[in-house]
Amino acid sequence: MVLPQNGIASVPAVVTYDPRLPSEIADPFPTFARLRAADPVHWSEVLGGWVLTRYEDCRALLNDRRLSADRISPFRDHLKPDARARIVDLLRTLGLWAVFTDPPLHTRLRGLMNKAFTPRAIERLRPAIQHLVDVLIDRFDGANDIDLIRDFAYPLPATVIATLIGVPVLELDRLKRWSDDLAAFVGNALATPDKRDRAQRAVVEMSAYFRELAAAHRREPQDDVMSGLIAASEAGDRLSEDDLIATCILLLFAGHETTTNLIGNGMLALLRHPDQMARLRAEPSQIDSAIEEMLRWDGPTMAMTRIALTGLTCGGKEIKTGDRLYLMLNAANRDPAEFDDPESFDVARADNRHISFGYGIHYCVGAPLARLEGQIGIATLLSRLPTMALAIDTLDWSDSFVLRGVRALPLRVTHAAAKVA
Ligand code: HEM
Repeated sequence: MVLPQNGIASVPAVVTYDPRLPSEIADPFPTFARLRAADPVHWSEVLGGWVLTRYEDCRALLNDRRLSADRISPFRDHLKPDARARIVDLLRTLGLWAVFTDPPLHTRLRGLMNKAFTPRAIERLRPAIQHLVDVLIDRFDGANDIDLIRDFAYPLPATVIATLIGVPVLELDRLKRWSDDLAAFVGNALATPDKRDRAQRAVVEMSAYFRELAAAHRREPQDDVMSGLIAASEAGDRLSEDDLIATCILLLFAGHETTTNLIGNGMLALLRHPDQMARLRAEPSQIDSAIEEMLRWDGPTMAMTRIALTGLTCGGKEIKTGDRLYLMLNAANRDPAEFDDPESFDVARADNRHISFGYGIHYCVGAPLARLEGQIGIATLLSRLPTMALAIDTLDWSDSFVLRGVRALPLRVTHAAAKVA
C-alpha cells in the first residue's frame, strides 16, 4: 500500500502490530486487514518474529517441513542453567507434546492419539453430550442473568474431555487451576513474573496425578482414552510412561479452553448479528455450516508458532534459519483472496475452508469432538432460550496471544419452558 504525501512523493505505509495493546486484544481484525494488504510477511520487534497474515502463506507454511513446531528446544537452549533447572519438568513435558514436536517423534505420539481418539469413539459421545448440555441449561434454573462462559461454555468441554480421558468430574476445579497456569505460560502475550514457576508447579502436580490415574487404569482398565493410550502403548508402540502422561496433559489442556472459546465467540457473533441468529433459529439444520463460520469469523486460535529450520523466502522477505514465525489463523480466515466478502458473518456460508483447526500433520486431533460439542451446545441454547441479549457493553477479552476468547459473557435470557407456561 502506498500513501500519497502531499502530492509530492509516495512512501510505503508502516503497519505496526502490538498484540499487548488492549485495543488489539479486543479487536485485532482491522490491523490484520492492514497487515494482509500492506505487509503480509511482517517483522515484529515486539514479538521478535515474523507475523504472517495471508491465507495462502499460512496454509502452505503449516505444511512445510522447512519449519519446525518445536519451540521448546530453542527456548530451553537460551535459558541460563539455573533458570533451566527451575523448570526442568515443565520443559520435559512440553517437549513430549505432539503439538511441539516434529517427525519422527510427532508421528509416534500422534499415532497413539489417533488410535485412542477415533471419530467413531467421538460420535458415540453424542447422547452423553446432549444430556450434559441439557443438565447445564436446566441448572440455569429459570435465572434471567447468566454468565455463558462460567455456566456453560467452560463446564461443557471441560467435563467432556475429563470424562473422555478418565478423570473424575469432581477433580474439575483442580484441573482448571493447573490448566490456567499452563495457559499463562504457553500462550500469553503479557509477561507475568511468576508464570514459569506456576507452570512448572502445575506440571509436577498434574504428572503426579496422572501417574496415579494411569496405575489405577492399569489395574482396572476402563472404556476411556487413558485405557486406550495404555493399551496402544503396551501393544508395542513404545510409548513410555512419560509420553503417556505428557499426552494426557496435552489432551486435557487442548481439549477445553479452545472449545469454550468456540462456544463463547460463536454465541457472541450471533448476538452481534441478530439477523443471522434469527436465520439459524428458523433453519436449525444450518448448525453445521454455522459452526464452521464461527470458527472462521472469530476462531479460538489466533497464532501458530513455527521455527525456520533453514533459510527461506516468503512474500519477498528473507527468513533466516532459527527465525520465529507466527501464522495468524484468524487473519488468514478473513483473507479476501480466499473468501468472498470475508468480513461478513454468514451462517450459511458454503465451501468454508477455514484453517482454525490448523493444516497438515498437526491438524487438530480433537476437531470432530469440538465440532460435535459446538453443534449440540449452540443448537440447544438457541432452542431452549428463545431470547438472549448481552448484559454488558464492554467485554473482557483474554490477553492470550494464542487463544482468543472472552473471560465472561453475561447474558439476559428467557427460557422456553417459562414462556410456554
Ligand atoms: C474449537 C476447538 C479447537 C480448536 C480451534 C483447535 C485448534 C487446533 C489447532 C489450530 C491445532 C494445530 C496446532 C499447530 O499446528 O501447531 C490443534 C492441534 C491439536 N488439538 Fe485442537 N483445537 C480445538 C479443540 C481440540 C480438542 C477438543 C482437543 C482434544 C480433545 C484438541 C486436541 C489437539 C491436539 C492433541 C493437537 C495437536 C495435534 C498434533 O500436533 O498432531 N483440540 N488444535
